[in-house]
Amino acid sequence: MVSLDPKEMTPLDCYKFLIGAVIPRPIAFVTTLSETGVLNAAPFSFFNVVTPDPPMVSISVQRQGGAPKDTARNAIHRGAFVVHIVSEPYVEQVNQTAATLPPDESEVALAGLTPVASDAIDVPGVREARIRMECVLERALPLGGTPEAPACDLLIGRVVRFHIEASLYDRGRIDPHGLAPVARLAGNDYSLLGRIFTIERPK
Ligand SMILES: Cc1cc2nc3c(=O)[nH]c(=O)nc-3n(C[C@H](O)[C@H](O)[C@H](O)COP(=O)(O)O)c2cc1C
Repeated sequence: MVSLDPKEMTPLDCYKFLIGAVIPRPIAFVTTLSETGVLNAAPFSFFNVVTPDPPMVSISVQRQGGAPKDTARNAIHRGAFVVHIVSEPYVEQVNQTAATLPPDESEVALAGLTPVASDAIDVPGVREARIRMECVLERALPLGGTPEAPACDLLIGRVVRFHIEASLYDRGRIDPHGLAPVARLAGNDYSLLGRIFTIERPK
């Protein structure tokens, strides 16, 4: 085994270790609305479920040069955002939205995605997603770095509406093949679902 002390590693080395080790990571495609009403979108693979009661998800948005990214700034300002599960047919468009655009330019328009109004919040989502979740901001936690200059904003969203393509949803179960989720590996690598197998859980 190679054993490493993070205190003796640079943040970049720690980042490379984490993104290579914690794989495959699901990808949240997040839309937010800027102060001036521009629909912003970006993918985030530091994404997971927090709790089902009430349903909450987390997204960790790294800061850039000390400043929160548009997604974090908008989500905190509006108190709402939409999380979409990234499926294979629109992953190329999602990737285009990771371009760093000025806050007054919409990545949704850039990538040719179709805005769709939300039911419970004033932030639109995109139609191309097979699953989308309207979220209100439950908590935004600045973490890491130093108290004066945190490294990231951990956004915790409480889901106030789930949307799913009807053909994927059968009596509360989601068809994983129909969903065709895309996951992130290290660097520019992605993966699809591999072999699915079942193991009985011990009583
Ligand atoms: C597949 C993928 C996953 C990403 N995951 C993250 C992430 O978890 N956290 C993060 O801060 N940036 C992540 N990024 C980079 C952001 O998407 C990128 O910085 C984006 O421009 C941020 O947009 P915004 O400034 O509109 O918020 C990821 C990029 C890609 C392509």
